Amino acid sequence: MRRAACPGSFDPVTNGHIDIIGRAALLFDEVVVAVGVNASKQRLFSPEERIGMLTEAVAVYPNVVVGGFEGLLTDFCQERGISAIVKGLRAVTDFDYELQMAQMNSSLAPVETVFVPTSPEYSFLASSLVKEVATFGGDVSRLVPGHVLNRLTERLGHRSGADDA
Ligand code: PNS
Repeated sequence: MRRAACPGSFDPVTNGHIDIIGRAALLFDEVVVAVGVNASKQRLFSPEERIGMLTEAVAVYPNVVVGGFEGLLTDFCQERGISAIVKGLRAVTDFDYELQMAQMNSSLAPVETVFVPTSPEYSFLASSLVKEVATFGGDVSRLVPGHVLNRLTERLGHRSGADDA
């Protein structure tokens, strides 16, 4: 079975993430969305919340599962028989860091990184920007699934959808 990991913080999952996960699901028999739960990092959503939102977002893909991991991604991959890591590349600015991580990961374990170009409509999209825009009441309704928009609205205390205008 060809099994791949789609790793990230997913704080929160965006439509850009879902695009990459869905395309990875066409390339591999099973995709494991690996949610980094490093406790030292400050997040808007807890690991359980991030995993819950992702699980709902990928429910349409029968060969996608979601799991949390702490520590090295390569350890997670080896424990689960995962031989590939799928990463989305938004622009050339992503490339330096992603290449460095890919090379470090392949030096740690027999795991290949596969880069998938982000769809143009999501090339500017990042969870950090979604949170910033939503914090100031901007419309992020086209950037995240509806259930994530609801969680952002609850957490940030005001609506972040198009019908605000
Ligand atoms: O969404 P992000 O924040 O870009 O995700 C980064 C993540 C979680 C994929 C990356 O930080 C990671 O793989 N962390 C696990 C620790 C690890 O394996 N570090 C070595 C990377 S070369």
